[in-house]
Amino acid sequence: MQATLSALLAKASAEFVGLQSRADFEAAKARYVGPNGELTALMKQMGAVPKEQRPALGKLINEAKGQLQGQLDAALARISSAEIAAQLGPAIDPTLPSPDAGPGTSHPLTLVREEMCRILRKAGFAVVEGPEVETEYYCFDALSTPADHPARDAQDTFYFPAQARFGNISKKVAEEKYLLRTHTSSVQIRTMLKGKPPLRVVSPGRVYRRDTSDATHSANFHQIECLYVDKNVTVRDLKALLDYIFASLLGKNTKTRFRPHYFGYTEPSFEVDLSAQHLPKVNKEWIEIGGCGMVDPAVFEGVGYDSTVWTGYAFGMGLERLAMLMYGIDDIRYFYQNDLRFLKQFT
Ligand code: DAH
Repeated sequence: MQATLSALLAKASAEFVGLQSRADFEAAKARYVGPNGELTALMKQMGAVPKEQRPALGKLINEAKGQLQGQLDAALARISSAEIAAQLGPAIDPTLPSPDAGPGTSHPLTLVREEMCRILRKAGFAVVEGPEVETEYYCFDALSTPADHPARDAQDTFYFPAQARFGNISKKVAEEKYLLRTHTSSVQIRTMLKGKPPLRVVSPGRVYRRDTSDATHSANFHQIECLYVDKNVTVRDLKALLDYIFASLLGKNTKTRFRPHYFGYTEPSFEVDLSAQHLPKVNKEWIEIGGCGMVDPAVFEGVGYDSTVWTGYAFGMGLERLAMLMYGIDDIRYFYQNDLRFLKQFT
């Protein structure tokens, strides 16, 4: 019996490799395990075998049946993948350059972001990232934004439902809510909690506000945030860095000025204006470009830095606003429409 079974398996295996279609497969399957199949016939002989021999024989047949089933499964898997491959057509290599568009171009926001990061790296800043889903602690509380501040209003900020859970974002305060970050300033807090001073980081990223979309507003846009912490840092250092950034990015003729302002996390705080009338479509002398200031001692204390030892500055600005200035783009919505006629202009 052993010999018969081995011969049967060998014959089946030789037959199965050649199967090309499902119909052939079904026919082959029936020839072995169908009601009139060869293996079925052997199983039927069991009845004629003396009782004592039955267990051993049954074991042999069962093993053979298992092996045959394995061969059938493999043949069917092979036929199915061949069918899928036939539907997909010839294999493509996604690493090859696109046949119609040439090597493509970067999005204008990518260009401005990369250029800003390059300029800041030269000044010793490391590029870091933070999550877009944030908690109130990082986005507001640790930045001394009081509970009744209008920026925290549900009309301005996208909050998640109370039952939302995000495994990898730690909550610092019980019961605080999750939200989509309204600014990249949250990354200041994450950076300081993770590292020790002195430090310099730049963090570009996407931010969200409940805005209706028009030529200058979008519910999601991009910012770039800088934080510098060291000993004896002054407003003069801040102004010098901003002058350097904008001269590098927009040309030597660019001037900056500070206007006093209020932000909870800096003291003193300023709004930064640019004068860059050599740029296309600029018809105002001064254009507001971002916010900045000297890191408030309360923020340092909140992250465990000794505010009698450490000083620092921070600033944040919108990347869309910068790109619009640089390239003379007059509607923010162009950035998100992916119109090739627009995108192909930036190289
Ligand atoms: N977070 C502010 C905004 O979104 C911008 C800003 C102001 C960033 C002052 C700063 C800062 O780092 O010090 O409008």
